[in-house]
Amino acid sequence: MKVVKTVAELKDFVRAEKNAGHQIGLVPTMGFLHEGHLALAEKARKDNDAVIMSIFVNPLQFGPNEDFERYPRDVERDTKLAAAAGVDCLFVPEVEEMYPAPSVVTMTVAARTDKMCGVKRPGHFDGVVTVVTKLFHLAQPDKAYFGLKDAQQFAVIDGLVNSLNFPVEIIGVETIREEDGLAKSSRNVYLTEEERIQAPYLQKALQLGVQSAVQGEKSTEKVIERTISYLQEHAGAAVDYVELLSYPELEPLEQVQGKMVLAAAVNYSKARLIDNIIFNVNEGR
Ligand code: PAJ
Repeated sequence: MKVVKTVAELKDFVRAEKNAGHQIGLVPTMGFLHEGHLALAEKARKDNDAVIMSIFVNPLQFGPNEDFERYPRDVERDTKLAAAAGVDCLFVPEVEEMYPAPSVVTMTVAARTDKMCGVKRPGHFDGVVTVVTKLFHLAQPDKAYFGLKDAQQFAVIDGLVNSLNFPVEIIGVETIREEDGLAKSSRNVYLTEEERIQAPYLQKALQLGVQSAVQGEKSTEKVIERTISYLQEHAGAAVDYVELLSYPELEPLEQVQGKMVLAAAVNYSKARLIDNIIFNVNEGR
């Protein structure tokens, strides 16, 4: 596996792969890799001739009071894990390499961000689409891989690619979980011992909500209420939001119908956790 820190080296790698007629798969990450990230890399490995993974904690997508400085980092360990997952080129730029000068053009996401995490994280998705656009231009992937754990992020990137005709296919990968159902996340290390025991109730609450919808509950409010009350009873965290929206449009629904996402965010003492279930009432899940 090649480890490259500069745009110039990444471009050399991409040029050589393109010249060889190879199909490129891209896996953008912020590092501190876990099995969720590695599942994306393994899927990319199966589908493509060359796999590029980026590790870049993108300052543009962190708010002033968020965890940019203390976001967990371990490039040495990540390098070993990425190599073992079959990554061919690991792109690990410094902030100055990605953003050498103030940008002349900035990006603003116009839809799918006034709900869910977008409400409490103004500018977050503008930062995500900016860095993802740069990575798409640099790595020129045929396919790019994103986790459905970040359902809103996937919906926004889907919007980016469709609205601006990016020549890339985006692939959504199912959420990888711990045995007790907690979604794998780099931020799980912030949980105290007690919180770690309570955190799986986030997924359990969503399952309960989805179950009621699949079993015929038509009121979105009732589905949400049921999910919230279960969370409040069991998860030991402050509920930030529970929302049931159409997917991927993220529009409010008059009643339970079609393809939807039931999503929640909760705040523990030092960690904000998100999870969701994307489902269809007609087919169940
Ligand atoms: P990061 O949080 O590091 O996640 C990188 C990718 O891994 C994302 O597509 C995310 O959805 C996916 N992922 C995280 N946990 C997962 C899990 N448990 N199962 C499956 N996939 C999982 O998301 C970002 O970084 C950034 O916003 C990024 C897209 C890299 C732009 O900076």
